[in-house]
Amino acid sequence: MIQIVLYQSQYEPQLKELLRGFEAEVEHRLRWPFPSAEISPFDDPESLDENDQDDELMEMVEEGAEDALSQINQGNDDCYLALSPEGNVIGFQVTHLYHNQADKHVKAGDLELSRLYVHPDFRKNGIGRMLDQDCLERVKTVDGINRVITFVEKNNSPNIALKRDLGFRKSTGYQDGARVYHFFQRTI
Ligand SMILES: CC(C)(COP(=O)(O)OP(=O)(O)OC[C@H]1O[C@@H](n2cnc3c(N)ncnc32)[C@H](O)[C@@H]1OP(=O)(O)O)[C@@H](O)C(=O)NCCC(=O)NCCS
Repeated sequence: MIQIVLYQSQYEPQLKELLRGFEAEVEHRLRWPFPSAEISPFDDPESLDENDQDDELMEMVEEGAEDALSQINQGNDDCYLALSPEGNVIGFQVTHLYHNQADKHVKAGDLELSRLYVHPDFRKNGIGRMLDQDCLERVKTVDGINRVITFVEKNNSPNIALKRDLGFRKSTGYQDGARVYHFFQRTI
C-alpha cells in the first residue's frame, strides 16, 4: 500500500534525489539521471541547445534541488511524500501558503501546489492523484486557506488532465520568458 506522510529529515537523501528528477524533467526537459537522457513526456518538448553541457545542466539541477530542499527545511514550504510499501520515497508534493498578496494572480490565503512529482517507474498508478487528493482533504482542516492554486505549463498534459479532473478551473494564462503557464484555481 502507498502511504502519504509528512516530510521528516530521515527522508532527506531520497527526497533530494527525487527533487533532482523534478528539476531535470520539469525545468530542463530531461530524464534524470543524464547523460542517457530522454526528452520528457510533455507534448511539445523544448529542444535543448546542442551546446548545452551535461555539467552545466547538472549544476542547475543540483542548485534547483538544493533551493527546494532548503525552503522545505526552513519551513517556508510544506512537503508530503508518497512512500512505497517498502518505505521508499517515490513521489512528493510541495506546497506554499501565501500570507500576503504576491502579484496580480496570487493573493493572501492562497495555497499553491508548487511541485508535484512521481518517480517515472511508478507513474500511471494513481500516486500523483493520491498526493493531490490528500492535500485537498488536508486544506479543509486548516484555517486561513481560501483557495488552492497552481501554475501548469501549457504543454504538461498529464498534470493538466489531473488538475481538471480534481475540479481545478483555468482562470488565465501566464508567461514567464518562453514558457507559457495556465493558472488553475479551486475553491476549498
Ligand atoms: C504529473 C504526474 C505527477 C502524474 O503522476 P502519476 O502518478 O503518473 O498520475 P496518476 O497515475 O495519479 O494519474 C492521475 C491522472 O493524471 C492524468 N495523467 C497521468 N499521466 C498522464 C499521461 N501520461 N497523459 C495524460 N494524462 C495523464 C490522468 O488524468 C490520470 O487520471 P486517469 O488515470 O484516471 O486517466 C507525473 O506525470 C510526473 O511526475 N510528471 C513530471 C513532473 C510534473 O510534470 N509535475 C507537474 C508540474 S509541477
